[in-house]
Formats: sequence, C-alpha cells, structure tokens
Amino acid sequence: MTVPSCRICGTPLHTFLDLGHHPLSSAFPAPAEPLAGACDAFRYRLAVGHCERCALVQLTDDVPHERRPYEGYPYHSSGSATMREHFRATGRRLLRTELRGHRAAFAVEIGCTDGVVLRTLADAGVRPLAFEPSGRCGYGGARVHRAFLTAASAREVVATEGRARVVYAANTVCDVADLPELFAGLDELLAADGVFVFEDPYFGEIVGRTAFDQFYDEHRCYFTATSVRALAERFGFRLVGIERLPVHGGQLRYTLARAGRRAPAPAVADILAEEEARGLTDPAVLAAFADRVDRVRRDLVALLEELRAAGRTVAGYAATAKSCTVTTYCGLGPHLVPYVCDSTPAKQGRLTPGARIPVRPPAAFGAPYPDHALLFAWNHAAEIMAREQAFRAAGGRWILYVPEVHVV
Ligand code: TMP
Repeated sequence: MTVPSCRICGTPLHTFLDLGHHPLSSAFPAPAEPLAGACDAFRYRLAVGHCERCALVQLTDDVPHERRPYEGYPYHSSGSATMREHFRATGRRLLRTELRGHRAAFAVEIGCTDGVVLRTLADAGVRPLAFEPSGRCGYGGARVHRAFLTAASAREVVATEGRARVVYAANTVCDVADLPELFAGLDELLAADGVFVFEDPYFGEIVGRTAFDQFYDEHRCYFTATSVRALAERFGFRLVGIERLPVHGGQLRYTLARAGRRAPAPAVADILAEEEARGLTDPAVLAAFADRVDRVRRDLVALLEELRAAGRTVAGYAATAKSCTVTTYCGLGPHLVPYVCDSTPAKQGRLTPGARIPVRPPAAFGAPYPDHALLFAWNHAAEIMAREQAFRAAGGRWILYVPEVHVV
C-alpha cells in the first residue's frame, strides 16, 4: 500500500481519522438501480490526514473529477435564503472594498453554481466571468468560461478580458485537486494589485464542533490560517486578510495578495496565534477529536435504535452531501431512517448514496409529521427550524449530532 502523501509538498501524511469506505456524496441512485450499479459500485476510503510540513489537512485518497457526475450536478449553492443573502452581502462587500473605485473592473468567480455573487457585481457595472467546468451557472447573464482555472485557461481569458482585479471562490478551493496549477492560473489571471478571496469550511470549527460530516469526497482540503499562509507563500502570494463567517457551520474567508503588495491585516496574526494556542494539528488534539467522532456515531445509532424499538417514527431532513458521511460511517439505512425530505428536485424520487434511503419532496415532511426528524442540514438549523415551527408545535423533536447527539 502506498503511503498517502501531501498534495502540495509530497511529505507522508499523518492519518488521524479513518471513516471507512464511502460512495460519492452526489451519486443518488434511482430506486431500480441494483446495489452494484453505477452509483453504488464505486467506493473510496474516507480518511483524513495532515502534513507536518505545511500543516494542510486533507483527504488521504483522491477521487478523480472524472468520477463526479458534473452534468445534472444536484447542488445549488444558494438553496437556502440565508446563503442567498450571504452571497449578496459578499458581492456588496467586494464592491465596498476591493472594487471600490474600480466599478468597471474585470472580476472572476471560480465555480459559480447559482451566480449570486456575480449578479451582484454585474448589477453594479463590474464585468464578471465564471470559470465553471460544468458550464452551468444559475445566473442567466453570466459569461462562463467552461474550464478549471489553470495557467493555460487563464491565459486564454486574459487575452480577451485583461487581468482580473478580484478572483473569488466559495466552497471551491477545498475541492481543487491540483492546487499548484490553481496558483499558476491565479498568477496569470490576477492584476499586479489584484486579490484572491476565497472561503471554505474551517478546520478549526470542524474540530471545535466535532463536525466530521464536513469530510466527504468533494472537500479534499480543510484549511486553517496556518496552512493557507504556507500555501500562499509557497506560490508567491501572501495571506493579507481573514474573516470569520457563520455560514455552513463556520468558515474562514481568506484574502491573498501578491507577495510584497500589501501588509497583512491584524486579524491574520490573531487567528494564527489562536490556532497555535489550540494546537489544531497536535497529535493529542486530533486523537481526542477522533474519539469524539466515534462517540457521536455510537450515540446516534443508540438513539435511533431506541426510537425504533419504542415505535417512534423518524425522518431525515435534507439529503445533504454531509449526510452521506454520517449514514455511511454510522451504518444508517431505511431501517433506522425510512425516508429523507429534500428540496432539490434532482434528488427527489431517488435514493441517498450508499444508505439507499428514499428521498421525498419537502411536502412529505408534514404528511404526516414524523415523531423525530434527524437534521442533516444542521448548518441551516436556524432557517429550517423557523420554517418548520408546525412540526415542533405538533410535538415533533429535532435530532442533532453537532457538536454531540442531542434532541430539541
Ligand atoms: P448544504 O448546503 O449544507 O450542502 O445542504 C444542501 C441540501 O439540503 C440540499 O440537498 C437541499 C437541502 N435543504 C433542504 O432540503 N431544505 C432546506 O431548507 C435547506 C436549507 C436545504
């Protein structure tokens, strides 16, 4: 067996969590598809390690992009009102900061899905373009360059558009297979005083909340300020800004500028110091995290078995990518969670990956309400609980497993 090595520097990884073999989180089989069919047959080992040299936390096994069902990709970045507002606010913030006084500037988003940020920028006069290999961008008017950002694809775009003042990415850099190539693309694409702004799930929050369901095939890396600083410096950039975001269970937004162009904001040193004090990649901290993950699994299975024995009804709420990690690692299936309701039409009528739990539309949730709902979209808990007040009023209870298993 080859020892997994760091995708940046090749140093052997220290594996601290092994959740077993998992299906692709976006491979929802049709009910008629046999167990060994196209969706279920492929499994990868979901294990997480960190590089002692560059501190980058990453999946030890790589799922090639070709394995992913890009066409009909069942994900919408702003499927929640909170996320739509988050992306609108992000666009407005870029206009107030990096794009202030540069309203006709060229700006790029890498992986735009619903295109809310680009629309906000375009409405203010900025010239936006998306690098989106799937070719799909929810914003009708967005120009899409159908490619990953690489040195070659960046050169093609710069030839007609010029260089970009801002390159932005949300929940995308964590999924990039070839980070050196991404930085080569940024080097071609960004203006001399341009910035790269990106936000991704924060490993510090994953550890703090025992949010092991953030680990799945589409998140290859789990960044910290420490690892992003190292990454930036390796490729001629500098981490100059950092911001905490409440969305998706806690993220960090990083701003990178070319080396020597800008001094880091004080928040950068603050978070670096905090990470050092927490010892985020210390073996003892990671071992304690792995123990808490195992505890969540045991508690969740025990609770669901107890409810089944007591004749209580249970439904899953939201067939998220994260839920694939939970159901697979915990061995949940229709015997414990008979169905899951989800608002994404492409998932409805299908089965969840691996666990083969039937996915029903949201209307099925109240027809009739289950006794308990397992909230897989815990990162949208406030919005969902506010909308589903009738469920609570009818005596329903939410089951959450972050930061530990509890019922509310
Ligand atoms: P994610 O943004 O955490 O990945 O979750 C998205 C999934 O959750 C997607 O399949 C839609 C589903 N969902 C619902 O079914 N109802 C909701 O209210 C929300 C916010 C998401």
